[in-house]
Amino acid sequence: MKPLILSLTDEHTGLLGSLAQNLNLDKAKLEIRSFPDGETYIRFDDDLKNRDIIILNSLDRPNQKILPLIFLAKTAKEFGAKTVGLCAPYLAYMRQDKRFKKGECITSIYFAKVLSDNFDWLVTIDPHLHRYKSLKEIYSINSSVLHIVKEISDYIENNVENPLIIGPDSESEQWVKAVAYNINSPYIVLEKNRISDNKVSISIPNLDSYLNCIPVLLDDIISTGHTMLETIKYLKKANMQPAVCIGIHAIFSGSSYKELLDSGIDKIVTCNTINHPSNGIDIASNLSEHIRGVGVGD
Ligand code: R5P
Repeated sequence: MKPLILSLTDEHTGLLGSLAQNLNLDKAKLEIRSFPDGETYIRFDDDLKNRDIIILNSLDRPNQKILPLIFLAKTAKEFGAKTVGLCAPYLAYMRQDKRFKKGECITSIYFAKVLSDNFDWLVTIDPHLHRYKSLKEIYSINSSVLHIVKEISDYIENNVENPLIIGPDSESEQWVKAVAYNINSPYIVLEKNRISDNKVSISIPNLDSYLNCIPVLLDDIISTGHTMLETIKYLKKANMQPAVCIGIHAIFSGSSYKELLDSGIDKIVTCNTINHPSNGIDIASNLSEHIRGVGVGD
């Protein structure tokens, strides 16, 4: 029998359809709802015995998803699924990778343990690897990471004339350098200092020789938007042209999307790892390859 793909929510309808088609998967018939008290009801309507199961869910807003995901995985195993894998285009709880203050919980470690205990494999996209160099440092299951460099390079090449690729901090250098190399354009990487959850400071070099370029800000995550907003402020002071902002993962907490749209930029484009109106870079084909790589699908 074909492997089954399913999702806890309907946020990935387009992506789920593309993966099902590319990998020749069946879409699971599933009833999921909340009881009036907020508890979750789940019922599978497929024969799961000896089948590979792929659960597709980005883990933005993770606290509300994680418990139902565990219920799904455990139930699938109970009904005899051969493997239950998690395809989480955005992987949460990667940023607290160190105890910065005495007494803090290093959430990345416990989150990795919960997922490793309940799934057989994990496929994800550009997780926030900073102090961890690989997911293997905290995940004990088979994990596969894909990078969205080609798709971003293609987007810029086809849509932005004379770009200057800008990374707001040292962590972004990995994408910025690779994309700039692919499309043969200049790049700079700025220095960021995070003062609090909602405050960052950015130091920017002299940009006089790039005034004829379109600044393309490239970052893995746009969350509060302050990293981008602060950078945009400096670009404006430096008389640069309106920026194109590209993020891989469109978290956009609070009013950050509107704030960015209103900040005098040209446009914001994100990848469809998290469903959002700014999605403009499709990751379906790359993601299909990686799922095939873990041994599931045709
Ligand atoms: C952090 O190092 C990441 O690469 C991003 O720069 C960060 O998560 C962006 O967050 P925010 O939008 O809240 O500034």
